[in-house]
Formats: sequence, structure tokens, C-alpha cells
Amino acid sequence: MKKSYIWPFANRISHLLMMLFFAVAYILGDFKDLLNYHVAFGLALGVLFAFRTVWGFIGPKYSRFKDFNFNLYDLKDYLLSVFSKSKEYVGHNPASSYAIVAMIVLAFLSIITGLLAYGIEENHGVLAFLHSTYFKKMEIFKDIHEFFSNLFLAIVGIHMAGAIIDKFIKKSDAIDSMVSGYKKLTQSVHVKINIFQSFYTLVWIVLSVFSLYYLIFTKNNIFIANANIKQNYALIHKDFANECGSCHITYPPFLLPKKSWTLMMSDLENHFGDDASIDKATNHSILAFLKQNSAENSTHQAALGILKSLKDDNGTIAITKTPFWKKRHEKVSKDIFASKEVKSRANCKACHTDIQNGLIENDLIKSI
Ligand code: HEC
Ligand code: HEC
Repeated sequence: MKKSYIWPFANRISHLLMMLFFAVAYILGDFKDLLNYHVAFGLALGVLFAFRTVWGFIGPKYSRFKDFNFNLYDLKDYLLSVFSKSKEYVGHNPASSYAIVAMIVLAFLSIITGLLAYGIEENHGVLAFLHSTYFKKMEIFKDIHEFFSNLFLAIVGIHMAGAIIDKFIKKSDAIDSMVSGYKKLTQSVHVKINIFQSFYTLVWIVLSVFSLYYLIFTKNNIFIANANIKQNYALIHKDFANECGSCHITYPPFLLPKKSWTLMMSDLENHFGDDASIDKATNHSILAFLKQNSAENSTHQAALGILKSLKDDNGTIAITKTPFWKKRHEKVSKDIFASKEVKSRANCKACHTDIQNGLIENDLIKSI
């Protein structure tokens, strides 16, 4: 057996970074308050994959797609010989060849649909301009993104299972070669990197790591930027801000439907145990403002959620009594709401910075 150099530094380091970025991005996807970091890792993964794709055309032998083994007979032979030694493959074996191409395609599909979901559902990032047109379909974009990401995870899982079988059952040195670059082969091969490829490797790695750093640490960069506008209710509707902001925060009007506002404004004498009554003209003017900016007239994801959850409801006037609100806060314990920093469920501001200005952002949730 001869020690052969197959995988240059570029393949090994990018492989390691891909595993890391993918794992972190996937896990962060489950934490809404860390969504911006999920997007940062996902996009940085995209940079890694974009360079890998070009490397498939300009890289050295065995890294190029044309040296991949897509032969179906070889694939069948490889898959059937799980418990025995299969043919020697200098570069990628047939299963890995297919897996790599599938992962590249799924990485791009996941990222594109992720950007669509981030823009359309959250009104964030480079595709936020699509929010106002497609907001009603926000759930669909999120579902498609999850579908591709889970398929991506499944291929990663199969690829890893293959690697583990390769190492522990077939006793091949495929995994070790992804660390050292060397494989023991019957023939002696030595992959050489030219000066241009070395330079490309440097740009590849520096840009990938820098893009992650940039996305995480530059506030309001265009990939993360929030297109929801902070409202100053005192300027938009003075009476609303003064009257409805005197005992508690100004609850954003888009958090309740017209029906709820009408009901509430018709009985301000008995307002959650308080008398909040005001003169008729002011009442009319505030009600008109609330209706004009109600959940029905908003594109905000919370507005859609609240509307949907109140579909067959006729009497809810508290945001905190809507099924949507309850669902979104089921993970927050009773003790936290009762704590002296919060005191009441209705004290949104204790946890949501800027909610009194109409901003309900995942990254503006304070941990208590
Ligand atoms: C005199 C004081 C007072 C005024 C003025 C007042 N409110 Fe309230 N409001 C309350 C109290 C007290 C609660 C109950 C808060 C709690 O549950 O902790 C409440 C609750 C609410 C809630 C429900 C919060 C939840 O639990 O989801 C909404 C919505 C609301 N008020 C809107 C308004 C609007 C609109 C106006 C202006 C027309 C207004 N309030 C004026 C005292 C007031
Ligand atoms: C004790 C802290 C706390 C209080 C008080 C609180 N929230 Fe929340 N809220 C949270 C947390 C934490 C989440 C995120 C839950 C999750 O990870 O899904 C959240 C999520 C939400 C969401 C969903 C955001 C999204 O993007 O899906 C909305 C809308 C919301 N809160 C509105 C309100 C309103 C309105 C009030 C006041 C009536 C309020 N919250 C009071 C902690 C709080």
C-alpha cells in the first residue's frame, strides 16, 4: 500500500467548517430569539458551498466534479458490499459523490427558501421587500424551508452513517483522509495545488469566516436588517398615545381585530376593573385609529396569528387571552409573569423592548 495525497487543505478545512456551520445553523433554527444567528450561520454556510461548487470546476484532480464517480453499477456494488471490502476509490466513492452533489443542491435550496421565509415572515433581510406582497403565504415559505433543511439533514445523516460504516466495518481510511489528506492506495498518487488554487483557497476560507463575523457583529447589515418600522404613536395619534398610554404601554393596534377594539371602546367605564372612560369625540377618533391599524390591516406575523386564532371568537378584548398569545407564551412560566420585574402578563414591555412602538422582534426579547 502506498501513501497518497488526495485531499488538499482547502477540501479538509472547508469540510470541517461546513460540518460546524451546518450543525450550528440547524440547531439555532429551533430558537426564535436566536433567529438572526441562525441566518448568519446559514448564509456563511452558503459562502462555503458557493466556493466549493466553483472548486468542483477549477480545483485539482479528485476535487473536480468530472472526477466524481457517478457510475450506477459502482454505486450498487458499493452499497451492497457494506460488510465486505469494496473496490478501491482514489477520490470520492460513488455514494459520497452523489451525496456531495445532493448536499450542494440542498444547501442552495435551503438558503434561498430561508431568505424567502426570513423576508416574507419576519420582514427581515434582503428579501424583506417581498413581505407586503406575500405575507399571507408566510407559513408556506417557512414549511418549504423546513422541508429542504430536513432533507439536507437526512442526506448529511446518510453521508455520516456511510463514513462510520466505512471506518469501522470496512476499515477504510476515508474519514482519516478528510483530516490528514492522505489515503493508503495500491497506486501512488500525489495531488498538486498550483499557485492560483492556493490563492483561491485563501480567499475561500477568509471570506467564509469573515462573512460569519460580519453577519453576527455588524448591526443592521442588509442580510439581517429589520424592515419593520418603529412607530412613534405620540406623533401618529396623540389622543391614543395619551389616553391609552397613561395606565399601561400603548399596545400596538395590530394586535387585536376591529371587533375587539370596537367592543373594548364601547365599554371603557369597565375596562379591566378600571374606569378608562373618555369623551365621545376622543373615543370615536381613537376607535377609528385602532380600526384603521387593526390586525386585519396589518402584515405583521403576530397580527395574522391573532386573527387566525380569533376566527370564531366574539368577545375577546385582551391580547393575553387570545389563543395565539397563550401558545406563544406557553414556555414562559407563571412565576416569571408573577415576578416583581414583570408583575402582569399584560406588562409586555418587561420582556419586549420597543413593543410600545410597534416592534415585536425576536432579538428584542429580554430574558428574565
Ligand atoms: C385608567 C387606566 C387605563 C386606561 C386609561 C386604559 N387602560 Fe387599558 N388596561 C388597564 C388595566 C388595569 C388593564 C389590565 C392590565 C392587566 O391585566 O395587568 C388594561 C388592559 C388593556 C388591554 C389588554 C391587555 C392584555 O391583557 O392583553 C388592552 C388591549 C388595553 N388595556 C387597551 C387600552 C386602550 C386602547 C386604552 C385607551 C382607550 C386603554 N387601554 C386605556 C387600564 C387602563
Ligand atoms: C415574561 C416575559 C414576557 C411578557 C410579559 C410578554 N412576552 Fe411576549 N414573548 C416572550 C417570549 C420569551 C417570547 C418568545 C417565545 C418563543 O420563543 O417562541 C414571546 C413571544 C411573543 C410574540 C411572538 C413573536 C413571534 O415572532 O412569534 C408576540 C407577538 C408577543 N410575545 C407579544 C406579547 C405581548 C403583546 C405581550 C403583552 C400583552 C407580551 N408578549 C408579554 C416573553 C414575554
